[in-house]
Amino acid sequence: MTDDLFDSLSIRETELRNRVMVSPMCQYSCDRDGLATDWHEVHLGSRATGGAGVVMTEATAVEPRGRITPNDLGIWSDDHGDALAPVADFISKRGATPAIQLAHAGRKASKNSPWEGSDPLGPDEGGWETVAPSADPYPYEEGETETRKMDDDDIESVVDAFAAGAERALDAGFEIAEVHAAHGYLLHEFLSPVTNDRDDEYGGDFEGRTRLVREVTAAVREVWPDDKPVFVRLSASDWLPDRESWTLDDTAELAPLLAEAGADLVDVSSGGIHPDQQIPQTGPNYQVRYAERVGEATDALVGAVGGITEPKQADALIRNDRADLAIVGREHLRDPYFTLHAAEELGAGDRVEWPVQYRRATQ
Ligand code: FNR
Repeated sequence: MTDDLFDSLSIRETELRNRVMVSPMCQYSCDRDGLATDWHEVHLGSRATGGAGVVMTEATAVEPRGRITPNDLGIWSDDHGDALAPVADFISKRGATPAIQLAHAGRKASKNSPWEGSDPLGPDEGGWETVAPSADPYPYEEGETETRKMDDDDIESVVDAFAAGAERALDAGFEIAEVHAAHGYLLHEFLSPVTNDRDDEYGGDFEGRTRLVREVTAAVREVWPDDKPVFVRLSASDWLPDRESWTLDDTAELAPLLAEAGADLVDVSSGGIHPDQQIPQTGPNYQVRYAERVGEATDALVGAVGGITEPKQADALIRNDRADLAIVGREHLRDPYFTLHAAEELGAGDRVEWPVQYRRATQ
């Protein structure tokens, strides 16, 4: 019998109640210093109440300069862990698996929120110095900011910061740690020849450019308990066919190395490294074939994300063995109860649990 969307999935000793994951989505809603607020608790808690198997936080910065905006979540001190603990606890109580995306924004850090324009912020505007593998800044339309090329100490401190962030996340009650190595942020910047001009051991060939993400994955795995899963999110392609860039072949080569470093699932996204990217299409399932390709290349599980909005579509991904998790982003903003509604639509109402408080809604 093939699995479907409502079958549970065991990864190590962690059992996910179904195959739907809430994709990490920045909320730009910290009042100060990366501390979670009641917004995070209600927002993520609602999606857990809505039946998803895994509820993942937004990109959570492992050091202050790794935030995209001043209002992003952080996990660089014990206070951050304390602020996130009630969020993880509520998600767990609702039967979902709480997950955290550990992140560093690299040269794409220090901007304001989308509703303020996503403009780069200089140090005199509440921003900060950004760091990256090379000194090239992200080519914003509004003009260039400065980025400092990381030295050996910076690199070592980033590996340590991911590990320390993971330890705090574990203490806060999270069950899954995801390393964010996609979308043009720091770890992806190391992977891509577009953004990595280093001639030391963290640059140059495939081995050099992939070293940091392999080290970070291993460092997170080292502190994350053996019975709990580690995920890594990758951009499968830079979408820059006219220049030397990170490609699907590279991703397929990296995936098994990440599995060796301790990753249990590769969450397959794409793009984000450069504004010249040409994404061939962005409709339904637009990144699924990349997840399939990665799945063929590694024994690790794969998650598909991007343009998954319909229950039948999500269910078909699992039934046809195209991915192990259906990762749903924007549809979860439209409908926090996506999974409960999907069960209704697919005739699987008896395989999900409405909160007892809401049972009258099912009669
Ligand atoms: C995102 N996305 C995203 N991705 C990520 O890895 N970390 C993040 O913090 C964010 N933040 C974020 C905020 C918002 C408001 C959106 C809409 C998206 C990308 C997201 O996780 C997902 O990969 C894409 O939205 C594609 O999936 P959907 O939306 O088509 O299901």
